Amino acid sequence: MLEQGPQDVRSRRGEVAALAFRRRHRGNPAGVVRILRVPGVHRPRSDAWLLADALRRERIEGAAVADLCTGSGVLAIAAARAGAKSVVAVDVSLRAILATAINARLNGCPVQTRHGDLFGALGDDRFDAITCNPPYVPALTDDLPRHRSTTALDGGRDGRAILDRVCREAPAHLRPGGALLLVHSSVCGVRETCELLRRGGLEDEVLLSVRGPLGPVLAARAQMMRQRELLGRADEEELVVIRGRAAG
Ligand SMILES: C[S@@+](CC[C@H](N)C(=O)[O-])C[C@H]1O[C@@H](n2cnc3c(N)ncnc32)[C@H](O)[C@@H]1O
Repeated sequence: MLEQGPQDVRSRRGEVAALAFRRRHRGNPAGVVRILRVPGVHRPRSDAWLLADALRRERIEGAAVADLCTGSGVLAIAAARAGAKSVVAVDVSLRAILATAINARLNGCPVQTRHGDLFGALGDDRFDAITCNPPYVPALTDDLPRHRSTTALDGGRDGRAILDRVCREAPAHLRPGGALLLVHSSVCGVRETCELLRRGGLEDEVLLSVRGPLGPVLAARAQMMRQRELLGRADEEELVVIRGRAAG
């Protein structure tokens, strides 16, 4: 099935982000990414569209971009559409890599694909921008799943297993003045992300945030998250886009 983002975002929070996104990009065909749904590959949701929106504001014309945890390739394609000079998309799932290659072709965007584990797939390469929408849903255990229905979502007990690795390893892969752009839910800690980025020598900034009711996956785990005090008083979350910028 062919989907066109961000029109397919269904949650209320997603609709707010999608509406805002559409208002800003009305009449701009580059604002629409066409995604072929491949079984077993994560379908872009409101978090992806929020990060795509932040990416366009970064003015990445001519930039070398890497998209980690690429899934369907939606953010890699958004980067190419926004004028990146080169885009490399990485995922640990072979299906995701195949989906990305298909979607890149469907959108007429040159995107290189690399099958592998986060920065391990990139050698010593450095980039002007690195995007990542990691699996960040708090899970029952810290064992990261191997089954494809949950590798896209589960991020260990606190949701930070992949996120922390990205924050720690990104500085070594950024060119001077380059930026890491991350999206995640507030349930896995905005302060923790900002602190890790600062510790790695990056200047942190929350670029966008959208508050709303928990999405269906988080809502199904609300009781577990309440017990671990990951949720505030209301069963709400904020989706945040955080930037870590290298000096230079
Ligand atoms: C939340 S989905 C994001 C997909 C897409 N970027 C989007 O925004 O819709 C997370 C993706 O991370 C991938 N992933 C999980 N662990 C990974 C790892 N260690 N290295 C690379 N990719 C990983 C999953 O296969 C999945 O495609």
